[in-house]
Amino acid sequence: MKIIMLGAPGAGKGTQATRLAAAYGIPQISTGDIFRENLSQGTELGKKAKTYMDAGELVPDELVCDLVADRISQADCAKGYILDGFPRTIAQAESLDAVLAKTGEKVDFAVDIEVPDEAIVARMAGRRVCAKCGKPYHVVSLPPKQDGVCDDCGGELMQRKDDAAEVVTKRLEVYHEQSQPLIDFYAAKGCLMTVDGTQSADDAQAYIQARLEA
Ligand code: AP5
Ligand code: MG
Repeated sequence: MKIIMLGAPGAGKGTQATRLAAAYGIPQISTGDIFRENLSQGTELGKKAKTYMDAGELVPDELVCDLVADRISQADCAKGYILDGFPRTIAQAESLDAVLAKTGEKVDFAVDIEVPDEAIVARMAGRRVCAKCGKPYHVVSLPPKQDGVCDDCGGELMQRKDDAAEVVTKRLEVYHEQSQPLIDFYAAKGCLMTVDGTQSADDAQAYIQARLEA
C-alpha cells in the first residue's frame, strides 16, 4: 500500500503517518524528518535545507525528488510506505508518478487532513517532538505519559525552530500557494481521501483505517 499524506503544516500528517506505519508494518518516510536528521548530523544536505526550513519556505524540488526516489527503492519499502510531507508541489507529484510508472505502480491513497488555519497556530505552539525518533506530541491534546520524555524511545521532547508563530504564518502561506493544488491533482486521479483533522487523533485514525480497508 502506497499512501501519501497531504495537509497544512500542523494538520496531523506526522501523527497519523506514525500510527498507520505501526498499524500496517510499513515505513513512514517524512522528508521533514530526513532534513532535520541531516541537519543534526551536519551534512551538506542538512545545511542547504536549513536556510529554507528556518524561513518557512520549501526546499527546492531537486534536493527532494532524488532523495525520495532513492528511499522508496530500498528493501523495507517493498510492501508499501507512507510518504509524510512529500509530494508538496505538482512537480514533486509528477516526479513521483514517473518513478512509480517505471515499475507499473501508482499512489494508492492520498490522505488529505483538513484543519482550518486558525486552529493550526495554536497546535504548533503546543507541539513537542522527540529529538531522537521524531514522534510528535502536544502539551494539551496529546501529552506524553511523562513530561518531556518520548513514550516510545525515551528521547527528549523539543520544540521545533520553525514552530515560531511568524514562521508558521509563512509556512501556511506557502502551503496554500504550492501544496494545496495537490488536492485537485489527486482528486482527478480518483485516490483522494479527505479527513476532518479537527476531530481527535484517535477518531481521525479510525476513520482513515476504515477507508483504507474498505
Ligand atoms: P515538515 O516537517 O513536513 O513540516 P510540515 O508539513 O510543515 O508539517 P508538520 O510536521 O509541521 O505538521 P504535521 O502535519 O506533521 O503535524 P503533526 O502530526 O506534527 O517540513 C518542514 C520543512 O521541511 C518545510 O517547511 C520545508 O522547508 C521542508 N520540506 C519538507 N518536505 C519537503 C518537500 N517535500 N519539499 C520541499 N520542502 C520540504 O501535528 C501537529 C501538532 O498537532 C502536534 O503537536 C500534534 O500532537 C497535534 N495533533 C495532531 N493531530 C491532532 C488532533 N487530531 N487533535 C489535536 N491535536 C493534534
Ligand atoms: Mg510532520
